[in-house]
Amino acid sequence: MANISVIGAGTWGCGLSRVLCANGHNVLMWSPFEEEAANLRSTHIHPNLSNVVLPDTMDFTSDLEKALTDKELVVMAVASPYTRMTAEKMSRYIAPGQRVVTVTKGIEESTLKTQAEILEELLPTAVIGALSGPTHAEEVILGLPTTIVSASENREMAEYVQNVFMAPNFRVYTSPDVLGVELGGSLKNVIALAAGIAAGLGYGDNAMAALITRGIHEMVGLAGRMGASYETLYGLSGIGDLIVTCESKHSRNRKAGVLIGQGMSMQDAMKEVGQIVEGVYSAKAALTLSQKYGVNLPITNEVNKILFEGKDPGQAVMDLMTRDKKMENFVKEEELPREWKDL
Ligand SMILES: NC(=O)c1ccc[n+]([C@@H]2O[C@H](COP(=O)([O-])OP(=O)(O)OC[C@H]3O[C@@H](n4cnc5c(N)ncnc54)[C@H](O)[C@@H]3O)[C@@H](O)[C@H]2O)c1
Repeated sequence: MANISVIGAGTWGCGLSRVLCANGHNVLMWSPFEEEAANLRSTHIHPNLSNVVLPDTMDFTSDLEKALTDKELVVMAVASPYTRMTAEKMSRYIAPGQRVVTVTKGIEESTLKTQAEILEELLPTAVIGALSGPTHAEEVILGLPTTIVSASENREMAEYVQNVFMAPNFRVYTSPDVLGVELGGSLKNVIALAAGIAAGLGYGDNAMAALITRGIHEMVGLAGRMGASYETLYGLSGIGDLIVTCESKHSRNRKAGVLIGQGMSMQDAMKEVGQIVEGVYSAKAALTLSQKYGVNLPITNEVNKILFEGKDPGQAVMDLMTRDKKMENFVKEEELPREWKDL
């Protein structure tokens, strides 16, 4: 039985806390807002998961020092725009060698860093990991079967996180490829926005399949060039998360995309969804990364134009469909059949 803190009192922190409590661990959840912590302490109900009562063994605080002291594991679950400011506040309380696992998805726009890279910068003495996969809080909190990947360059860390979370309804795999796991979880949000936009425009299953398939092509192209393993992107934290986010009614990125496809502005769509739409932040970062690494990302490019330049979504689809003709996959010249080679 371990003492574990969950930093951030959102729906995902609550979902993961349910798994940890069911496994017999002590969970203390931190919110930056005393009112949020007090409400959760008195009701044990999260307003966005109102059909579920959180375990009565869970406790809540807004005192960061208390949340981080004597904890075998810290689960970092704030939404990505708050990771840096929260980690800065945490730095004075984190003990050397303390384990911190991020479950947040997103690439920081100003630095192009992943969540684990931000934590490594600000908490240099901590042991860092990332936990990510196709996992909607709404299903995890009900105990529905779910799979996820625990990644860390430190094998003991990856396996520690695997052990504390592993349950018959929550299967945890390990991976040494932190970059691949985090890029998968972040880049898929951009494609999910595109999937939502397509649905909002009234397109059907053919367009959805095309977006998922060409979307993973973009994710693999960029992440591979950045040094991640292709296998990671074709695994649970890559294509697995892409499928669930493009298809699920729980996906806030997809929901925002639907509204944009129906004609709403990006700002109004974000307000309507009511939670942080992280794909909007990651879209810009992905575009900058694609320019830095010289990788062409046509879907990500059009999503950026729709979000930040007010491009008409229908025109964006037309521009994607009428690009220059090309082969489906990049094949090295020497691997082509003879009649396909440029003579
Ligand atoms: N919800 C899911 O199903 C799910 C699944 C997997 C991963 N994630 C990831 O987990 C992260 C959190 O998602 P969520 O759904 O719990 O988000 P949420 O919007 O429900 O909650 C975010 C939490 O962040 C904290 N927060 C808000 N403002 C803050 C501030 N100014 N400073 C510090 N903290 C602040 C609050 O405690 C808030 O409850 C995201 O990166 C998301 O992509 C979510």
